[in-house]
Amino acid sequence: MRQKVLEDGASELSYEIRDIVKKAEKLQHLGREIYWENIGDPIQKNFKIPTWMKDTISAILQEDNTYGYSHSKGVPGTRDFLAKQTNQLNGVQISKEDILFFNGLGDAISTLYQYIDPTSRVIGPSPSYSTHSSAEAAHARQAPITYKLDPDNNWYPDLDDLYNKVKYNPAIVGILIINPDNPTGMVYPLEILERIVAIAREFDLFLISDEIYAKVTYNGQRAFTLAEYLGDVPGIAMKGISKDFPWPGSRCGWVEFYNRENEPDFDQFCRALENAKMIEVCSTKLPQLAIPKVLSDPRFPVYRQELNERIGKRSKLITEILGTIPQLKFNETKGAFYNAIIFEEGVLKPHQKLQIEEDGVRQLAESWVESKDTSLDKRFVYYLLAAKGICVVPISSFCSELQGFRITLLEENEDLLSHIFTNLKEAILEYLES
Ligand SMILES: Cc1ncc(COP(=O)(O)O)c(C=O)c1O
Repeated sequence: MRQKVLEDGASELSYEIRDIVKKAEKLQHLGREIYWENIGDPIQKNFKIPTWMKDTISAILQEDNTYGYSHSKGVPGTRDFLAKQTNQLNGVQISKEDILFFNGLGDAISTLYQYIDPTSRVIGPSPSYSTHSSAEAAHARQAPITYKLDPDNNWYPDLDDLYNKVKYNPAIVGILIINPDNPTGMVYPLEILERIVAIAREFDLFLISDEIYAKVTYNGQRAFTLAEYLGDVPGIAMKGISKDFPWPGSRCGWVEFYNRENEPDFDQFCRALENAKMIEVCSTKLPQLAIPKVLSDPRFPVYRQELNERIGKRSKLITEILGTIPQLKFNETKGAFYNAIIFEEGVLKPHQKLQIEEDGVRQLAESWVESKDTSLDKRFVYYLLAAKGICVVPISSFCSELQGFRITLLEENEDLLSHIFTNLKEAILEYLES
């Protein structure tokens, strides 16, 4: 090429959640059955969408209007419905003009960071959902800036770490909160959220709150949303239907802008995001039309509660199986459908392995771990995949120095769930003793 084509920020883009699939597929070719614990897609884990929801969506498909473009910010009636839902929380008040639809939150996330000045930074959690950390890092062409979530304190944000990083890095303009959190499955108490707002207020920052799992909480928990605790600080809530309908294939999510009138700079930023979507024309329309119909159906809250109870039960079952291994830091989850399980410091060693009978599979596993640069948790994860077919994601891929792995709480078949996690426990013990 006569000029460099690829921009420098591209090296920050990585998505191990899907990268590991390539390895798993190689094993499938060799006849290994794979248990997919890598991705938060309930549909892939035997989840069945209820008939009433399918009927609602089918009826929308009978309307000719469904097939046209929508307003570039999203279907007005749906934005109106969502604004009213937010206003009912009695916190920040918005109108439909403060809502902007995207093709899934993935689209919202990559667009949002793209329009932040490259010298300005958003600090996010570590471990972090990599779509955020990769997109933020790519926009700045530098490694992500993170605050610690503490596995020794219920995975709550380390507020001293956050405060100091914000105080001593004037490039930081925003703080990202993911609540309920991916990958830790934690839900934050109101007091912690209010202290984060206080930091934002003190240093004149805006907040981003990813609330894609807001309706997925269980065992007595509920997630506070940004609109409820933000006060007058500028903020953006990110919401979607991938996890609560659940309809990840709809590629539908939206952002809500809060207090944009308080800060002209922030308002201009929100306007730029709206203009970016206008250039693109609009986002997927069918799911937008379905949102008010599904969410206002009296069957929805009953259905969601029942699903949450099922996830809560799985959370308890996994705690019973894995929660007693002394070499692990294990926190019982409260929301979303993941758990980040961390190895205690020093227990992972570069010689450890799992027995693999089949020559082809063993050789493949050995080729994945032969590089000295392979982190110790990746090494464990690759052996686990090859020996037991259990496909999890290493925590070091979530922008973290901790060593561990993320599992999901999605397996609908209880016997299979028990089988997978009992096998996982045996694998951990065998690996650590090898
Ligand atoms: C925290 C978080 N935000 C956003 C997304 C992306 O959601 P969407 O399917 O709407 O792109 C995910 C998907 O797993 C997620 O875990």
